[in-house]
Order: sequence, then C-alpha cells, then structure tokens
Amino acid sequence: MNQNQNRSSLFRKKPIATGDNESNMLKRVLGPLDLMTLGVGAIIGTGIFVLTGVAAAKYAGPGLVLSFLLAGIICAFAALCYSEFASSVPASGSAYTYSYTAFGEVIAWILGWDLILEYGFASAAVASGWSGYFQTLLSGFGLQLPHALTSAFSPEKGTYFDITAAAITLIITFLLTRGVKEAARANGIMVAIKIIVVLIFIGVGVFYVQPDNWQPFLPFGISGVTAGAATVFFAYIGFDAVSTAAEEVKRPQRDLPIGIIASLAICTVLYIVVSLILTGIVPYHMLNVSDPVAFAFEFVQLKGLSWIVSLGAITGITTVLLVMMYGQTRLLYSMSRDGLLSPVFSKVSGKSQTPATGTWVAGIIVALFSGFISLGHLAELTNIGTLFAFAVVSLGIIVLRKNNPELKRGFRVPLVPLIPILSAVGCMYLMTRLAALTWITFFGWLIIGLIIYFAYGRHHSHLNPARRISDSFKTTNGK
Ligand code: ALA
Repeated sequence: MNQNQNRSSLFRKKPIATGDNESNMLKRVLGPLDLMTLGVGAIIGTGIFVLTGVAAAKYAGPGLVLSFLLAGIICAFAALCYSEFASSVPASGSAYTYSYTAFGEVIAWILGWDLILEYGFASAAVASGWSGYFQTLLSGFGLQLPHALTSAFSPEKGTYFDITAAAITLIITFLLTRGVKEAARANGIMVAIKIIVVLIFIGVGVFYVQPDNWQPFLPFGISGVTAGAATVFFAYIGFDAVSTAAEEVKRPQRDLPIGIIASLAICTVLYIVVSLILTGIVPYHMLNVSDPVAFAFEFVQLKGLSWIVSLGAITGITTVLLVMMYGQTRLLYSMSRDGLLSPVFSKVSGKSQTPATGTWVAGIIVALFSGFISLGHLAELTNIGTLFAFAVVSLGIIVLRKNNPELKRGFRVPLVPLIPILSAVGCMYLMTRLAALTWITFFGWLIIGLIIYFAYGRHHSHLNPARRISDSFKTTNGK
C-alpha cells in the first residue's frame, strides 16, 4: 500500500515517534515512587470500600476472597501488557495512543471512545460511593438530606437524584480547571491517609473475626465467585491511569512498568486481606450496605473507629475521583489534539493552562450520570468498558511485536503470545459475566461512537490528507 492510500485508510497509523515529539511540552519530573503513589491513589476507592459489600452479599459470600484473587490475576496479565506498551510508546493518552500506533485510527477511535466511557462512568461510580460514606458521616452528626435527594433515580424507593455525588463531581471539576499541581500535592497526603485507614481496619479487624462467618464458604457456588470477580474487578481499575502520566516521567522505559506492577501488587495483597477480614467480622448476607467497611466496625460496637474509617474512605475515594477525572480530561485532550474530537477539549486557557471548557463539559455530564444512575449500573458499565480496553491492549502487544520488533522496549512481557492471550481471554470471560443490559448499553455507546467518527473524526483527523492540504492552503493564504 502506498503512503497516500495508507493515509486515507481506516487503519492509518500514527507514527510511534509522534508521541515523543509532542511530549516536549510537558516537564519530566516523576519517578517510580511518584508513579506508585499515583497508582495506589487511583486504585483503592469505591471498589474496596463499597462494592465488596454488594459482591459478598449478592454473589460470592465469603468466597469473595477468591473473586479478588481471580480478578487480580487477570489484571496482573493485563498490567504486564500495559507495561510493555507504556515502556515503548511513552506518550499521554494511554491505551488510546498505543492502539493508534499498533492497530490504526478506527480501532484507536473505538478504544478512545470506549475509554471515555470507562473514565466517565468510573468517575460517576466513584462519586456515588463517596456519597454513601459522606451521608453516613452526616448522620453521625444527626444531619439528614431530604430522602428524594439521597440516591440515584428510583421512584419506587422514593429517590430521584444523588445530590452529594453530583456536588463532589462538580467540586473536583472546579479543582481540575484551577491546575493540577496543587491537586497532585494534596494527592500524596490523601493516599497516605487511605493506606493508614486500610491498615487500621486490618490490624484491629483481625481480632474480631469469627471463623464461623466463613461457613458456608461458597454459598452461591463457583459461578458466584466469577460473577463477584466481574464486579470487584472495579476495585483494580486505575493502574492503567499510571500510563496516562507517561509524558511527565523521568525514565519512562524503566519507571512506568515498576509503577504499574508495584501499585497493582500492593493493592491486590490489601484487597485479599480486607475481604477475608470483612466477611469474617460480618455475616456476608448483611453486607449489602453503602458503607460496608465502616459498618463492620459498627457491627462490633467500635463506633469511634467506624467514624475514622468513614473519614479515611471519603479522603481515599476523593483521590480516585481526582485521578479518574484527570485521566478523562487527558484522554479527551489527546483525542482532540489528534483532530478526532472537537478542538474545545484541547484548547488550554487561563493562568492554570488547563483545557477548562472541555473539563467543564465532561464534569457536568459526569455529575448528571452520578446523580441519576445507581452505583451498581455505573460500576458494571465501567467494568465492561475497561475489560474491553484491556483485551485490546493485550492483543496489541502481539501485533506490536510482529510489526515493530526493532522498537526499544524498557520492559518486555514474558511468554508472548501466551500471557497476552491469557489476559485477553480472561478479560473477555469476565465480560460475559456482566448483565445483558450492560452489554446493550455498551453496544449502543460504541455505535454512537462510530457515527461520530464517520461524521466528524475521520475528516478532521490530523492524519487525513485532505485536511492537511486544506490546512496548508489556509496557511499560504494567511487564513
Ligand atoms: N479502583 C477504583 C475504585 O475502586 C476505581 O474506586
């Protein structure tokens, strides 16, 4: 295929060096410890503090620990693949950028559009989890919001809008438009608080475990364990966000894999221990509450500690929200910079030099989602989007090895193609464990995305030769 045909093809590819050229705009200041903080900051949140309860009560019972193990193993395979990509294509935009170089434009668009869904719904889900803990804290002070505004749209339960979830989303949006440096500084402190709270839960909780609560261990059988894994998979999402910082890392080829793999490893160990202790303290069928970790301490009459856990959970969940929403703006920025989305998302303005208008557009949409849609639905949509992205990235490794064997890689996935295939198959299997409605919404989202691509992105793409000609025409005519 000649160059021009290639450029008008649906599978036209972004040259791998492009990311490096563009990266000169950002300062390289981050080291491995910063990346680990970023990773743990993005990972531990609503998943462990909230969804563990639903997953134990509805699906896995005490076997929840196996759900965490299964989801953790699949994520570890995916993390290895992410690491190789991140160490060979260190540009911002994460999986979207990788697939632009490995698979070409239309696949990159599908993946980018899918990641908008991931980050958007993840942010909304995390905000919804935040709201649950915040309302528990408020009730500790004897304060109560009007019932209609306490939870997502569900007229049969008398609730219409989760006002707290929408409010925290807008507050974080505001912070992001003020610049991320201050936010990043606060992030380190909040991550430390979150880990301390998890360690307190483990250190104290272990003395209140009643081994009888672990019987029966698998009340819903193995299928309950796998359905639980598809739910708690949410708790692991975030290690991929480490790679969105690629352009700001000092030695990306070495440090990105360390950051991704180490943060995932730390969280996996913490999750396994927390889920064992949680189901050991409270009988699993009582865990379907909006604040299960704090509830466990309340259950054994440790009211003061329950309050501290709630405060820590709120702090911890805030960092996840910050990183997810930041990831969202970064992704929109990359896609808009490539011409696939409206320039609004890459127009930086003001003293803070952030894409403020784009950030507000995304923030308001996420706030509406978090107010109207229930946490369960939001988490499932996030999971299907993320699992799809992980599967594509994993298969991308096989393609990249074949098409670009000469590329300098700081990290290489062992046993290719076995590990990428195991990762992709594992992700697809977990996708099959999600509800039919989630699949329908997911397909609907992808179809809308393709319509936008063919109506807009394909023509405005910076790789479109017609656009390049018209751009140079404008330049020569002084327009
Ligand atoms: N892993 C993140 C959380 O659990 C998304 O909140």
